[in-house]
Amino acid sequence: MKGIILAGGTGSRLYPMTLSVSKQLLPIYDKPMIYYPLSTLIKCGIKQILIISTRDDLPIFKRLLGDGSQWGCSLHYESQDYPKGLADAFIVGNEFIGNSNVTLILGDNFFFGGNFENEILSRKDLNGGFIFALRVSNPERYGVIEFDNNFKAIGIEEKPKKPKSPFVVPGIYCYDSSVVSKAKSLNFSDRGELEISEINKAFLKDSNLEVKVLNDNTIWLDTGTVDSLMKANQFVETLQERKGILVGSPELSAFQSNLITKETLSILVESMSESKYGKFLKSNL
Ligand code: DAU
Repeated sequence: MKGIILAGGTGSRLYPMTLSVSKQLLPIYDKPMIYYPLSTLIKCGIKQILIISTRDDLPIFKRLLGDGSQWGCSLHYESQDYPKGLADAFIVGNEFIGNSNVTLILGDNFFFGGNFENEILSRKDLNGGFIFALRVSNPERYGVIEFDNNFKAIGIEEKPKKPKSPFVVPGIYCYDSSVVSKAKSLNFSDRGELEISEINKAFLKDSNLEVKVLNDNTIWLDTGTVDSLMKANQFVETLQERKGILVGSPELSAFQSNLITKETLSILVESMSESKYGKFLKSNL
């Protein structure tokens, strides 16, 4: 299983904060936003990861994350010409994906808790598509899943005015390599995007889409607005300061996934010993 982090877009809902800085480089509490999806992929056992962003922002992501070898990973970079939609990640990532299965995670999505990383780990040899569903209070903002009486997914609609259920698809998606040809055959939607919901519908039409409903132990936050960004900051602060749980740390995730040794982790920690993040990481050793 390979991984893609989609970290482009305009970030226009966060203007003026994102006029000169990519949204996914803004901090959530004590670390850059992209650390969170990156750590999630590492916890899912994914080592080869493609980061897609704008041509202007890619050099900054490269400066921040490097080639990934410090975390036992291999990071690759590609640019997206303009925000053509989430499904464009599979066209941009075409060569990187090759014949592998792939997990796409959105660069502004934050996941914590539950057991969903193990769900992805156990689907390395996936045939078809695998997505999650979560209950939210504002489904009209997302891709909404319709279920039949046996809780079998029967439909998906992108941002419907009248949602058919409160269950939506969070920004992490696993597919086999046929996703590339499916993406290439999509038309642009009315809002001018290649929609991930259309990809999911294509797998659903082939009876090849597994939908796993996540329980309430899984926290999913999307950090694309000022309010949701503030809530994410507060949530991480609460977890780290009150409960002592470090989240969104590629160093710790890499160590827990056996990608780096304790000695390597110690060296990484030393290089950040002046910062709160470094100190907290050290206390987790
Ligand atoms: O957050 C989950 C939702 O993500 C799903 O439920 C929806 O089905 C899916 O369409 C998507 O909803 P949004 O339309 O709200 O996604 P947004 O435009 O906010 O983009 C998500 C992230 O992807 C954001 O960090 C910017 C980045 N992005 C977006 C587009 C359209 C890109 O890097 N390139 C793009 O072309």
